[in-house]
Amino acid sequence: MSADDPIEPWSIDVLTLFPHWLQWLDEVRPIRNATELGLLALRALDLREHSPLKHRQVDDTPYGGGAGMVLRIDAVVAAMEGHYAQPVEDTRAGRRVVVLTPAGRTFDDAMAIRWAQERRPTTILCGRYEGFDYRVHEHVATEEVSIGPYVLSGGEVAAMTMIDAVARKLPGALGNEESLSDETFSDALDGGAEYPHYTRPADFRGWGVPEILSSGHHAEIQKWRLEQSRARTERNAASPEASADATTS
Ligand SMILES: C[S@@+](CC[C@H](N)C(=O)[O-])C[C@H]1O[C@@H](n2cnc3c(N)ncnc32)[C@H](O)[C@@H]1O
Repeated sequence: MSADDPIEPWSIDVLTLFPHWLQWLDEVRPIRNATELGLLALRALDLREHSPLKHRQVDDTPYGGGAGMVLRIDAVVAAMEGHYAQPVEDTRAGRRVVVLTPAGRTFDDAMAIRWAQERRPTTILCGRYEGFDYRVHEHVATEEVSIGPYVLSGGEVAAMTMIDAVARKLPGALGNEESLSDETFSDALDGGAEYPHYTRPADFRGWGVPEILSSGHHAEIQKWRLEQSRARTERNAASPEASADATTS
């Protein structure tokens, strides 16, 4: 393959009970840019569409008892095989199949960079209720991912969060107005917090802007920014209370 060969759009499918919720993604800028540039092909797939059960049922009560409903393995496999028109094993061999669960590996910036570099076709399975029958994790998914240590009501917001974080890392998705190189978690900031930004007015209700930023001394400004980045990283790592005190003082 030569450098001039057109690249295939990166396929990301989201399997969900609420496909229309994902429409929001088509409107937001980094994702829309990536789609328009042919870098991304995003689809929301209906988990109910191929259900083999009466009334397109997809959930059932848990074996062993307990509260809540569990998403059935047969419904998930039927959805995967219906949408991809091949055995689920073949889809699993050819795509990253992510099952969203709060118990999964935490999605972070490093994972977003890796996904954006690999551009491996990806399917994201959004749970609801008590989540999926565990055979979905064992036999359908290739990995379990969480967006953080808290429990959401469903995977849709988590899927949108991950897609937004990854799509903006695709070359050209951000346009010229924003830079990935100096933002929070970047190597340029040693993986730390971004430095503070200010804009006009220079004085608002007596709240000023650090003078250094109007000095025109680029090297000094850069030094100040790195110091601020380090201080902000340490402050926010220390404790939520310390961080809140610093931002309100
Ligand atoms: C109410 S949660 C199920 C929680 C599950 N019973 C448990 O205790 O781990 C329903 C669905 O929301 C999604 N979800 C909840 N929290 C999440 C998180 N932190 N990251 C990613 N997905 C999450 C998952 O797809 C999950 O199946």
